[in-house]
Amino acid sequence: MSTNLGVFPKNARINEKGHLEIAGIDAVDLVREFGTPLFVYDEEHLRDNCRRYVRAFTSHGVEHAVAYASKAFMTIAMAQLAYQEGLWLDVSTGGELYTALAAGVPGERLLFHGNNKSLEELELALDNRVGLIVVDNFNEVEMLDALMKRRGGKQRVLIRVTPGIIPSTHSYIQTGQVDTKFGFGLTTGLAMEAAIEVLNRETLALEGFHIHIGSQIFALNSFERAVEVICGFVADVRSRTGYVPAILDLGGGLGVAYRRDDTPATIEEFVDVLISSLKRECESRNLSLPFVIIEPGRSVVANACVTLYTVGAVKEIPGVRTYISVDGGMSDNLRPMLYGAVYEAALANRMTDSPDLTVTIAGKHCESGDILARDVWLPSPRPGDILVMPVTGAYGYAMANNYNRQPRAAVVFAAEGRARLVVRRETYEDIVRLDLPLA
Ligand code: LLP
Repeated sequence: MSTNLGVFPKNARINEKGHLEIAGIDAVDLVREFGTPLFVYDEEHLRDNCRRYVRAFTSHGVEHAVAYASKAFMTIAMAQLAYQEGLWLDVSTGGELYTALAAGVPGERLLFHGNNKSLEELELALDNRVGLIVVDNFNEVEMLDALMKRRGGKQRVLIRVTPGIIPSTHSYIQTGQVDTKFGFGLTTGLAMEAAIEVLNRETLALEGFHIHIGSQIFALNSFERAVEVICGFVADVRSRTGYVPAILDLGGGLGVAYRRDDTPATIEEFVDVLISSLKRECESRNLSLPFVIIEPGRSVVANACVTLYTVGAVKEIPGVRTYISVDGGMSDNLRPMLYGAVYEAALANRMTDSPDLTVTIAGKHCESGDILARDVWLPSPRPGDILVMPVTGAYGYAMANNYNRQPRAAVVFAAEGRARLVVRRETYEDIVRLDLPLA
């Protein structure tokens, strides 16, 4: 493996032709076989991220489940991979739930989230014996109660508590503050009310509580604070009702490095902080250690993937800037436009050429804001070059769309010199598949 590849996947290297290789496959060959835009996951890196989470928990000797937050990247193959690695899956819509079931993940390994679950979604979950439903609001309590009265038995649930914590990250991806659409606020008393309400329902078995403070978080002390707050709440619930939860779900949110000078905590440090603060809090409040669930998404998939594009138009505006346009953009990566996310880029077919030009990388969509990266230092790009952007594995394909009727990209898993297509590229026939003509 080359040492100067920074944030590229584990099995990325530069080969003797000066091309980028992922898991032993030349990017130029990948493009020849699968076309562009193309998401390429280093399968071993994906599995490694899963294993590091499981190992980190096991080393602390804590009863646990690592539930992959499938919203970050969900396909049948990804659900199968996570399940093979011993992970549970966090699903947050009927579509994610359906995909997990289609992948053969048993219901008991699923955790069902969502701030507006429909009756149909809840029925799908109950029909398939979803292990835990994370209750988000009083309306959902009523719906579940009514459904379970008809079905009989008890559904195991967690209550989503919003702890009133604002981590340092983009405001669109903060989720733990008081003013949020998610969960029951702790500081407003609604979380306590919800606990009492659920405990009073014959149809629901309250297994515990859930918190999630946000995403792409670097500061581990925000997680520490969240653990303190939820344990304080558990102690309050105990003194008010006598109830002690069997499970605490601490959510996801660990940040990743998008650029080589980003310095997020490692998976091991993250788990370490969660478990040591949990142990400390439980001890000081005389609580026994619960079964711990976490829900990492981004940190499982982001850095295992690169996106390959083909460079088309190169436009120099004298004295202003040079735009290079690629054959994707905001239809395969919305993050620069939505969150101002910053990505690195390189030319996969000219990895050893010296950079000599600062360029702005534009997508092909009819919108000035369709810019993937600004002021990137590259060897003067030419039409036909392959542009690669690393760390596109989370919330890239997951948020892909058909703006301008652009077919969605293909996805491959690369391992040991072999690339497996796991999502085929959309065709123009797919694009019009749901359209109905006037006549
Ligand atoms: N659990 C819950 C309840 C969540 O809402 C989320 C993410 C996760 C777990 C996983 O968080 P992660 O480990 O991936 O940070 N589209 C945005 C991110 C939205 C995150 C939504 N919730 C982005 O591209 O940055």
